[in-house]
Amino acid sequence: MLNIALPKGRLGEKVYGMFERAGFECPSIREENRKLYFENEALGLRYFWVKPSDVAIYVERGAADIGVAGKDILLEYAPDVYELLDLNVGKCRMCVAGPKDFSDDLSKTLRVATKFSNIASSYYASLGRDIDIIPLNGSIELAPILGLSDVIVDIVETGATLRENDLAVLETIVPISARLIANRASFVFHRPRIDELTGGLAQEVKP
Ligand code: PRP
Repeated sequence: MLNIALPKGRLGEKVYGMFERAGFECPSIREENRKLYFENEALGLRYFWVKPSDVAIYVERGAADIGVAGKDILLEYAPDVYELLDLNVGKCRMCVAGPKDFSDDLSKTLRVATKFSNIASSYYASLGRDIDIIPLNGSIELAPILGLSDVIVDIVETGATLRENDLAVLETIVPISARLIANRASFVFHRPRIDELTGGLAQEVKP
């Protein structure tokens, strides 16, 4: 069995559709239930749904041979995995955002609220800007509104959350999309199948 970790949620459904169209289907996954793993014995495939931010851990530790993870997670946690293919879905960007009229006072340490401490730290280190990271787990947009931070580093997809909270993108750090990743040992042991899968999925990637 080749173990495949998919991110639970809308992105995962979309990505599974790509696997299916590429000929790596597993019909039981389409049934409405709360099951977390599904097998197609004939094809030797086992899919499972995991929290999107956990996919890289499953793959890094070999519980999954391959998986689909956002580039944001790969940049933030730098898991020791192979990145095989940009699936060009789940597209968004990692941004610095803040009040529309924000102007940085360089005489002060910049307070940055984020779920992505490593991405934020390396971005500001590259600019030589001193920052104080305020680690949060969600609703990051509240931080500058309540004066907890000056700016945020977060994912922007449609921009609606920022707009509706009177915030704006100040800088784009990096574009993000979903990536096919593989465990390093699995990539050696299951090379022909992983190559076949990667090739099939590559045909399904829309520009
Ligand atoms: C993400 C991100 C923004 C929002 C951006 O949050 O942190 O809040 O989506 O999307 P938009 O540009 O389309 O509005 P998520 O929904 O993952 O929830 P969170 O607050 O728990 O991070």
